[in-house]
This record gives sequence, structure tokens and C-alpha cells, in this order.
Amino acid sequence: MATEQTFSILKPDATRRNLTGAINAVYEKAGLRIVAQKRIQMSQAMAETFYGVHKERPFFKDLVSFMISGPVVVQVLEGENAVAHHRELMGATNPANAAEGTVRKLFAESIEANSVHGSDSLENAAIEIAYFFAGSEIVG
Ligand code: PPS
Repeated sequence: MATEQTFSILKPDATRRNLTGAINAVYEKAGLRIVAQKRIQMSQAMAETFYGVHKERPFFKDLVSFMISGPVVVQVLEGENAVAHHRELMGATNPANAAEGTVRKLFAESIEANSVHGSDSLENAAIEIAYFFAGSEIVG
């Protein structure tokens, strides 16, 4: 298995409830390393661009409004098979369908306020990392 980097967001429902440390503990315990991390307030334009692939979906406006409703923590996670490993740790998009022990089962409030984002492919991970981080901010 190859060492990969993936992009992660701890969403506004997680920052609001002071859960960033608890979620990071799940990731670190599972062997993912946080090699970059910063807390930011996304602008509407940033969120619309980031989620642009979903712009025709019925929940697009709600998703953008939610993602700018408070601060988020953006991260780069590194580890063996990190993209798939992270998605496994996150659990299903809808917490009602998430497996026991996953971040969304443990912490998510709803399909919208689902606590975390993770890249769905290595290709998208590279694009998403470059959208939020300069190379000099990532320290392995
Ligand atoms: S995924 O994880 O990309 O396969 O899931 P998908 O169903 O394609 O959802 C894409 C992102 O949209 C969010 N989402 C929603 N937000 C608000 N309301 C509703 N109903 C809803 N359904 C899906 C979902 O959390 C995904 O966001 P990210 O940040 O990529 O996890």
C-alpha cells in the first residue's frame, strides 16, 4: 500500500460543539497523521467553488449556507491508503446509515450537519489540498 495524502474538513457543527480534538483523536488513533491544519471561515465564493461539482443538486444552496455558518478546520491527513482509510473512518454521508465507531455515527447531527468531509479520490485530494494549502504549509 502506498502512503497518500487526503484532504479533510471538520465542519461548522464540529467546531461549534468543540469536537475538533475528539475527531482528530479518531484519525490519529487509526494511524493518520495531521500534516497540515488551519481553522478558517470560508466565504460564500470559496464554498461555492469548492462544492461546484454539486451545483445542480437540490441541496447545493443549503450545503453552501451550512459550510459558511461558522468556522471550519481544514486539514491534510497522511498515511497508508489515506483516501480510502479516511472515508472508512468518516462513515456514510447520512449518519443514520453510518457504521458503529465511525466519526459520523459518533458525532454527526444530520445529513447536512455531518461533521466531516473527506476527498473521494486521490485525484480530488490533490485538487482540494491545493485549493486550501500552499506547499510550505504541509509538513510531513
Ligand atoms: S459523497 O460523500 O460525496 O459521496 O456524498 P454525496 O451524497 O455525493 O454528497 C455530496 C456532499 O453534499 C452533502 N450532502 C448534503 N448537504 C446538505 N443536505 C443534504 N441533503 C445533503 N446530502 C448530501 C454531503 O455531506 C457531501 O458533502 P461533503 O462535504 O463532500 O462530505
